[in-house]
Amino acid sequence: MTMHRFPEDFLWGVATSAQQIEGGRNAGGRGDSIWDWHATQKGAIEDGSDPSRACDHYNRWREDIDLMSWLGAGAYRLSTSWSRIMPEGRGAVNEAGLDFYDKLVDALLAAGIVPFITLNHWDMPHALLGEGGWASRETVAAFVEYAAATTERLGDRVRHWATHNEPWCIATLGYEEGHHAPGHTNPAEALPAAHHLLLSHGLSVDVIRRNVPDAEVGIVLNTSPAWAHSDTDEDREAARRFDGLFNRWFLDPLFRGEYPADAIEDRARRGHLKGGAMPFVQEGDMGTISTPIDYLGVNYYSRTAVKAGPNGDPIGAPLVPKEELTEMGWEVFPGGLTVILLRIVEDYGPKNIYVTENGIALPDQADGSGRVSDPRRIAFLRSHLLAAHRAIEAGVPLRGYFHWSLMDNFEWGHGYTKTFGLFRVDFDTLERTPKESAHWYRDAIAANAVSDGQ
Ligand code: FCB
Repeated sequence: MTMHRFPEDFLWGVATSAQQIEGGRNAGGRGDSIWDWHATQKGAIEDGSDPSRACDHYNRWREDIDLMSWLGAGAYRLSTSWSRIMPEGRGAVNEAGLDFYDKLVDALLAAGIVPFITLNHWDMPHALLGEGGWASRETVAAFVEYAAATTERLGDRVRHWATHNEPWCIATLGYEEGHHAPGHTNPAEALPAAHHLLLSHGLSVDVIRRNVPDAEVGIVLNTSPAWAHSDTDEDREAARRFDGLFNRWFLDPLFRGEYPADAIEDRARRGHLKGGAMPFVQEGDMGTISTPIDYLGVNYYSRTAVKAGPNGDPIGAPLVPKEELTEMGWEVFPGGLTVILLRIVEDYGPKNIYVTENGIALPDQADGSGRVSDPRRIAFLRSHLLAAHRAIEAGVPLRGYFHWSLMDNFEWGHGYTKTFGLFRVDFDTLERTPKESAHWYRDAIAANAVSDGQ
């Protein structure tokens, strides 16, 4: 058995997001978000639930910080709720909303936990939907206002900021496929939405730097290495297409100031860009989008094995038997984390990287006292941390790891049916109980090392 030690200053963290844990839907002047509204639409949420109460973190945040202290976490990735801070999306600032985060930040710092705040983890104020949400360029200025107000208030204590979480999900799942709020199914909206997200990111980077001394500013992307399902030209080509639309569509603009030419062609071929034109890209935008950042947040859950569908379009088709997939239908593939980190460093050279999300949804049966034995989560944690460690040894500037998630929570369109937490939440009593994996993670943090179990 070998112990794999992490660098002395490596940050061990946990992650959550406002909409998924806070609840307090109308408390303290908060306005509705697009997810509050989306959850009222028939069939939008698998179990018919909504995030109105979620984990009630809005009232139980002290207890939740205690959970992090018990774990020994050095950092916490959270998001602020745009609807709590600017209920109308722009204009008036709700001071009571900012007060909530003010207290939370002070308590985290007092507990020795470094806050990493993401400004947009999907919960845009519903009021902005009237203008088209992210499909509208108007939303860019609204987001910058919100970023300014939030960092003005918290920037004296919070150094680490991310603008958006997973813009691919917002643009594609929200505006093209309709699985996420706002539930639009218009492929012509996805690329403008993605562009407006990126543009508002670039503009906010400067604003955040102005408000935050010594800021570390970044953005969080969902990444997944593409694997050809078979060694045929068709599947290899489908994998290239997937990579272009999923990974490079965001990485290239951020680090190179341009959209990938092959992926533009793919979109044009599918009829999503008339003649390949992108009228939503205006002069100067690409320079703004590629404003240098201090770190890239990498969310990694799995690789994507890709098959060629009709017209050669990419279709995800896992390479392992169904029984081995997680509750989300995702393959457990730790090696993909090393692969994607190395590739990002080689192709884009970010200064610093954090794994901002990585985790697994399991059936998580509790015994009579709420205890959960989750050996698969422990194996997942171990193998992915070892994969991260291999990346560090190969020279990746990986500064920290945030496990998704601190506790079970509202898993978007799946409601409360998918559990990712290190802590189980009983959604009737709201009691939190550490799963066995929480004990395991606590030991790894204390040791600053992970054994390969051999
Ligand atoms: C990511 C989201 C996060 C959570 C995990 C399972 O895409 O950023 O909020 O839902 O998936």
